[in-house]
Amino acid sequence: MFHCLNAWKNNSQVANMTISNNNSSQVMQQQIEKRLLIQHLRSITEALTTTAGSDVVKGLTQIPKTLPPRYFYDDRGSELFEQICELPEYYVTRTETAILQECASQIAEITQECELVELGSGSSTKTRILLDAYQNLGLPLRYLPIDVSAGMLENSAKQLLFDYPTLEISALAGTYELALQQLPAKQLPSRMIAFIGSTLGNLNPQECEMFFYQITQALHPGEYFLLGVDLQKPKHILEAAYNDSQGVTAAFNLNMLEHINWLYNGNFDTAQFEHFAFYNEAQNQIEMHLRSKQQQTVKLNALNLSVDFARDETIMTEISRKFDVETIKQQLRAHNLETQTVWTDKNNWFGLLLCQLQ
Ligand code: AVI
Repeated sequence: MFHCLNAWKNNSQVANMTISNNNSSQVMQQQIEKRLLIQHLRSITEALTTTAGSDVVKGLTQIPKTLPPRYFYDDRGSELFEQICELPEYYVTRTETAILQECASQIAEITQECELVELGSGSSTKTRILLDAYQNLGLPLRYLPIDVSAGMLENSAKQLLFDYPTLEISALAGTYELALQQLPAKQLPSRMIAFIGSTLGNLNPQECEMFFYQITQALHPGEYFLLGVDLQKPKHILEAAYNDSQGVTAAFNLNMLEHINWLYNGNFDTAQFEHFAFYNEAQNQIEMHLRSKQQQTVKLNALNLSVDFARDETIMTEISRKFDVETIKQQLRAHNLETQTVWTDKNNWFGLLLCQLQ
């Protein structure tokens, strides 16, 4: 068992294994592949280069300048985000995980036989808590992870299939919008779409409305939507979470410029920009910016774009909205998504809402 797991994780070790181990490992891989389907909706690189070059041009030619947060997530950005989730100041992931551990069995009891669709599944770490809960009730396990990173999807899906021998996975590599429109036919009586991690906070109010609409289009009445949201809390706690002492969030923010350089043949010099994040209390949102340390001109050759920066001028790269439970419940209700149960932690820092489409 131990050898098979390692062989799965690290192909270089296969050569050292005995023939019988090789055979059992191959059988296991075949069994795993039978339970895995990956549909590539459209590659993110293609989506970024064909349609989103225009969003970079638009964002950098308007005042104030902005860039869409999806440019955070190249391989390095995804790696840095995983590191952010482990930071002592970034309470978000830890708090949500603890809530899930407390309430996952209740979720499984409420929804019963249910396919789990997860938007932005990433490494699927928190998914395991839900899968364990369904497994403990003896319910069938079917998981539909959706992520723009096909590599991440495949790796985490294979690891899950290894660890859960009855699990079936139908993964969709692509954006939420595309995936929600193209979910495969249901194979269990119900479905739950999970959008956890407070990624909702990275959408502005209009995008949020559109997103809820898309959720309702992807569900049938009686099906479920599980939403994790970061809640309003004192400014110093929020600002520490987005200005960590190890500088990982700063590296994550600056990496967006490297990603844009790579995509659009640009010459952003990351040494000439600095990370800047603060809590905008009027809007209840963290704002992350990149501030130009001096007057400078940056070229993005593939977009035929030349951008002038004044000293101290910023590019806003992300908002991270912080919610209150009653307001979000009302917004959901306006989309016919009725909140059945809300779970939170002892500090009321994070909320997990289980809603049902009416
Ligand atoms: C992905 N998202 C929920 C994170 C957040 O907290 O808004 C992204 C992030 N940005 C900086 N740190 C984390």
